[in-house]
Amino acid sequence: MPNIAVLGTQWGDEGKGKIVDFLAEKADIVARFQGGANAGHTVVFGKEQFILHLLPSGALHPGKVCVIGNGVVVDLEQLFREVEELKVRGYDLTGRLFISGRANLVLPYHKMIDRLSDSGKGDEALGTTFRGIGPAYVDKVNRLGVRVSDIFEREALEARLNLTLVFKEDFADRSEDKKAFDRDYLLNSLLSYGDRLAPLVCDTSFLLLEAIEQDKNILFEGAQGALLDVDFGTYPYTTSSNTSVGGIFTGLGIPPAALHETIGIAKAYNTRVGNGPFPTEETGETGDRLRERGNEFGATTQRPRRCGWLDLVALKYTARINGVNKLALTKLDVLDEFAEIKVCTSYRINGAEMKNFPDELRHWESCEPIYQTLPGWQSPTSGLTSWGKLPQNARDYISFIEKFVGVPVNLVSTGVSRREIVRRS
Ligand code: IMP
Repeated sequence: MPNIAVLGTQWGDEGKGKIVDFLAEKADIVARFQGGANAGHTVVFGKEQFILHLLPSGALHPGKVCVIGNGVVVDLEQLFREVEELKVRGYDLTGRLFISGRANLVLPYHKMIDRLSDSGKGDEALGTTFRGIGPAYVDKVNRLGVRVSDIFEREALEARLNLTLVFKEDFADRSEDKKAFDRDYLLNSLLSYGDRLAPLVCDTSFLLLEAIEQDKNILFEGAQGALLDVDFGTYPYTTSSNTSVGGIFTGLGIPPAALHETIGIAKAYNTRVGNGPFPTEETGETGDRLRERGNEFGATTQRPRRCGWLDLVALKYTARINGVNKLALTKLDVLDEFAEIKVCTSYRINGAEMKNFPDELRHWESCEPIYQTLPGWQSPTSGLTSWGKLPQNARDYISFIEKFVGVPVNLVSTGVSRREIVRRS
């Protein structure tokens, strides 16, 4: 198997967890490279459902190595909660989970700052997940972060905390949770992770480089989606990491040539959680129907997701910036009952038709989708596993997407469970 990246092409929640889980069977290593516990990757098999926030989805395959790279921001409390939960359910990660010593930590004050900052933006609030992601990346880039490796040197850790807390006094004053900013509390709680953390920490870049030399198979598991990328997404309504392909190389320290294939995951329609532009959003009955049929509620925050038709302009753009070679289309079955299905093929912005994804926020204000309407198939595709059994109109819908984006759709997911997938070629 080649080394494969699995990347979201929309605003996250495309169903990456399921596809990574499906592909992980043939991989040796599954590596996360960006984001943190803002992600919520759902994997279902049999009667069991797992929602992973920080652990790579490979955790659910006994024997597979899981890597959390330097580009991830790590909340230790959440990490060990997930490790323990999986252990209770029969998935032991001992000896197969590795975390970069360079990864920055998400600390309690980051979560408080996240809450205070986003609420302080009033109408321009992003609607973040309040997992402390933005503030943790701010500290990283501002060279005020605490890294995983700092935990093993008490004096250095103390010095780091002293320095970083000076810059947070204003937030500490405004926060109800004073403990989150208390140096001694933070120091002791971080030091208490030392013994459990020590066997997991290494230079994951070397671990991966060695694996590459030994021709092992690596799966790079993206979190969120390209439209939430801090550079290429709908900025400022984005997350704080590079969710697109470049994040793999900076977030893991491996050479670009080690990536052989990029699979873009796209839902058969669009959703978004939180605020920001969403040209094809349906706020009426259609949106409600998509939400209900697709069970579109956030895996991390349980918020109802905004729903709308598939935006092909955006998909073509994200497929291009990511160098997507193959697409996996998820949740096709959610469209089963619609008599007609719309796809957005261009935008009207300030009265002019635009075929490219705009790079300026002000363009979004007047952006209207221009749709092409395709016939629905109105028959169940739920659980189907062969291309030939899909209704002709469903196949035509997929072919339309492939032609428009210029990338083949190789996987089609037809349900939540591991086995409900159509594999082409
Ligand atoms: P943050 O990543 O918590 O800072 O949130 C920034 C924006 O990204 C908000 O609109 C969130 O709803 C969105 N977001 C973050 N992570 C995810 C995800 O895993 N799925 C969908 N949206 C996300």
